[in-house]
Amino acid sequence: MKAVFSGATIFKNGRFEQGGEAVAKTTSFDSLFIDSTKYIIFPGFADMHVHFREPGFSYKETIATGSASASHAGYTTVCTMPNLNPTPDSVENVKAQLDLINREANIRVLPFGSITRGELGKELADLEAIAPYVCGYSDDGRGVDDNGLMREAMERARALDKLISAHCEDGTQIKDSPEAEWKQIERDIKLVDDIKCKYHVCHISTKESVALIREAKKSGVNITCETAPHYLTLSQVNVRDEGGFRMNPPLREEADRLALIEGIVDGTIDVIATDHAPHSAEERSKGLKSLNGIVGLETAFPILYTKLVKEGIISLERLVELMAQKPYERLGIEPNGFTVYSLDEEYIINPNEFKTKGRSTPYAGERVLGKCLATVCDGTLVYIDDKIIKR
Ligand code: DOR
Repeated sequence: MKAVFSGATIFKNGRFEQGGEAVAKTTSFDSLFIDSTKYIIFPGFADMHVHFREPGFSYKETIATGSASASHAGYTTVCTMPNLNPTPDSVENVKAQLDLINREANIRVLPFGSITRGELGKELADLEAIAPYVCGYSDDGRGVDDNGLMREAMERARALDKLISAHCEDGTQIKDSPEAEWKQIERDIKLVDDIKCKYHVCHISTKESVALIREAKKSGVNITCETAPHYLTLSQVNVRDEGGFRMNPPLREEADRLALIEGIVDGTIDVIATDHAPHSAEERSKGLKSLNGIVGLETAFPILYTKLVKEGIISLERLVELMAQKPYERLGIEPNGFTVYSLDEEYIINPNEFKTKGRSTPYAGERVLGKCLATVCDGTLVYIDDKIIKR
């Protein structure tokens, strides 16, 4: 059976063309024909930074709920971070995660392996052995403080032609300070300049990080970076309740937010990733002691479209580049599928309508534009009109 989206505006080769047709396979419906003249079709979004919490923390999120959340928002590809139990630092552990992914995911879920064993920063993971199974290496959640260990990780990642995606947080600096982020980026830029591995910085949040990466790119260092929707649209001035806005890195000052905006406008920042980080309601209800992390998949496009594109800060084409083209390019993989969006539908963000298990978002109650009607992954319909379709 087929689902046919006819008459839509379709994003192709960097621009929008009107009146196109897109087709997907489906076994869940008799053939569907959807007059899509009101809709716009984007390439499937790719998120280089999510936490799907399995194995180890299924009470926060599962591969099934995480990928449902992603497909509900137009993502066809996500990369999961390795702060799991067990840590994907060996073939056995990565395979345990991949078994779950193969059984449960309705989109393409690509695991990052860890850089260090157990993400403990003491010795390197089985980088060569896990290379065929992972999209890159990261110790997300903490920085790799040991310079020698990071150098060796980069050398081995270069030999394997694999990406390192670094959570930069220098443990010798004051926790949550801007320096903790940018000093480790500064160190890594010197290492990457020397070693020439493929290197990407996770969730940058400070103006100094933007400036350092801009300069490094100018001098030809093989560096890319991501920021998240919350660092582009919120700063300390927006924090209403301490618990609900807790994340790592934290929201910064307005000057930082504006520097990040400049970074997405001038190309210093390559990718917008969500850092989708669900926790239980209890873990998020402890005020300043709440665990860090907000959910992000189901708010990313509507928030960015409403607050950046509609406000004239970036074009829709640029947003698609940041959420789809650039992540695929950096991961070195083919774009996957498409998503069908209504840009005119206005609604209020209600976390109870999310497909993720997480409910903690600073955007609850925001009025936004942009709703996902359908998502197609690997040629197959995986989400339509509030229904998640298992593959
Ligand atoms: O806010 C965050 N949550 N930042 C991190 O670095 C880790 C993540 C998580 O795993 O919850």
